[in-house]
Amino acid sequence: MGRVGGDVSDRDLLKMVEAGLWAPNHKLSDPLKFVALRGDARRRLGEVWATAEAHRTGTDVETRIAKDGQKPLRAPLILIVAVHTSQDEVRAEEDYATGAAATQNVLLAAHALGYGAIWRSGDMIRSPEVRAFLGLDPTDRIVGAVYVGELVEDLPSAPEREVDKHLTIMT
Ligand SMILES: Cc1cc2nc3c(=O)[nH]c(=O)nc-3n(C[C@H](O)[C@H](O)[C@H](O)COP(=O)(O)O)c2cc1C
Repeated sequence: MGRVGGDVSDRDLLKMVEAGLWAPNHKLSDPLKFVALRGDARRRLGEVWATAEAHRTGTDVETRIAKDGQKPLRAPLILIVAVHTSQDEVRAEEDYATGAAATQNVLLAAHALGYGAIWRSGDMIRSPEVRAFLGLDPTDRIVGAVYVGELVEDLPSAPEREVDKHLTIMT
């Protein structure tokens, strides 16, 4: 994704979430949860994450906030895609797959609406403190943090996909 800025309207946010909710979902277990962060909520997210990291690694909180705390400010909208987890291993795996499909749907919707968007993860999405800040359950899994905004520079060119290398056709 090139650099993004500008804003994302509420109307477009709702369209992206609706696209996410069309993700295939085995047994209709309805595992998806979305949290949208705008404005100061992005700064608070960065602060919560950086503070938790500083405590975990025994490093200075202020230094960590200066280094990592600003990262969520790179886009006007961060859409967190999460799923609830199940005690049943197969169900949990399939629900997580729904989360990945939902994230891809969000990306496709964002691009169709003319925005730039990127799926990010990093240690942040596995942080209990971040889950709590977002109002998620301790057992929920965050699948991705989708950074969305208006493209303010051209997209970097991506390598061609070599279909032959990845596809086996059996007859
Ligand atoms: C689960 C997952 C997590 C990712 N996390 C990050 C991330 O934290 N930071 C990042 O720069 N790219 C991350 N990516 C990769 C980008 O989403 C993207 O695929 C990559 O930058 C290539 O860009 P393109 O698909 O537009 O060519 C992640 C991708 C996936 C599937």
